[in-house]
Amino acid sequence: KVRPVILCGGSGKRLWPVSRKSRPKQFVRLFGQESLLQTTLRRLEEMGCVNPLLMTAEDYRFVVQEQLAEMGLGGASVVVEPTPRNTGPAICAAAGLAFADDPEALLLVAPSDHHIGDVTAFGQALAAGIEQALDGRIVTFGIRPDRAETGYGYIETAERPQDGIAQTFQRFVEKPDLAGAQLMQESGRYLWNAGIFLFSARSILAAFGTHAPGVALAVKASIASSRPDLSFLRLGPEFAEAPEISVDYAVLEHVAGVVIPVSARWNDMGSWRSVWQESVRDGQEVARSGEVTAIGCADSLLRSDEPGVHLVGIGLKNIAAVATRDGVLITDLDATQSVSEAVIHLQKAG
Ligand code: GDD
Ligand code: MG
Repeated sequence: KVRPVILCGGSGKRLWPVSRKSRPKQFVRLFGQESLLQTTLRRLEEMGCVNPLLMTAEDYRFVVQEQLAEMGLGGASVVVEPTPRNTGPAICAAAGLAFADDPEALLLVAPSDHHIGDVTAFGQALAAGIEQALDGRIVTFGIRPDRAETGYGYIETAERPQDGIAQTFQRFVEKPDLAGAQLMQESGRYLWNAGIFLFSARSILAAFGTHAPGVALAVKASIASSRPDLSFLRLGPEFAEAPEISVDYAVLEHVAGVVIPVSARWNDMGSWRSVWQESVRDGQEVARSGEVTAIGCADSLLRSDEPGVHLVGIGLKNIAAVATRDGVLITDLDATQSVSEAVIHLQKAG
């Protein structure tokens, strides 16, 4: 049995104006009636992973609970991190809590903001991963890169990767620079880290103890002083003393882990471009959502999230146009990575 640990404490900037600090992308209904978090939970349930542990930030605890309740999962465990310290401390805390129930518990850590096209392929990769994790290994899942991408982690394999076949990885490189990403893309021996991990509570805690003792110590103290608050479990104030570091830098770059290549459609949903790619599109590659009219448009995303606000696009090409009650974005689809810069600018302007 595998217990899911869902990371839903991040605050994304790149899907403004729909995703806000008060409601980051994992909670937004980007496609249809379900949020990305809800789709993640349902997907895991379909793969037989139940009894999730949700790790989130103070600001998002009620949204998480509301979205769980909508799915009939109101009783799921929600853990509140008093201060955001990135994914390293969050995962360490989840492992510490699960360890107390069962030291050998297998944990499947999943981000809450991904799109996965092929659940069956992932299910098969998971089955291969379980064998490895039962032997105490730290398991990652790898996606074949189709471009040089500086926002992901890269995993070097010894042999050419084959779907579903586990390999001990040679090297893990988190967020390389562009030149590095290009070399790795060309070599054919690197996979993208999907950000999904599988391990026993015991083995990941041991890895934190060795490679990130500062995280391990602070998290241990915060678990000891954690307390229930309404229906949440609130970690103690010592959590704030953990270094702010992602699990990739804290642990994965330092361990001899295993990677399982998966050939599923996978997308990080990090930009409006990726939303457009994963949306249903017409013959002209136009994706529509909400009250919109597109005339003579091609290769574009038109979206209105405000009932009563009708968005009209005429002759658009390669454009994302997104309207909400208090913000309108119009961007070239090839520049959607820069949305985060605009948001920083807006924050400065107050
Ligand atoms: N609970 C909690 N607390 N969750 C967090 C925190 C935190 O402090 N910070 C981030 N998260 C959540 C985010 O909401 C997201 O679901 C997930 O953890 C991953 O964090 P990101 O900040 O989105 O990471 P990333 O995309 O830059 O990089 C990671 O994912 C890539 C694939 O999408 C790395 O693992 C890369 O190696 C990987 O390629
Ligand atoms: Mg991400």
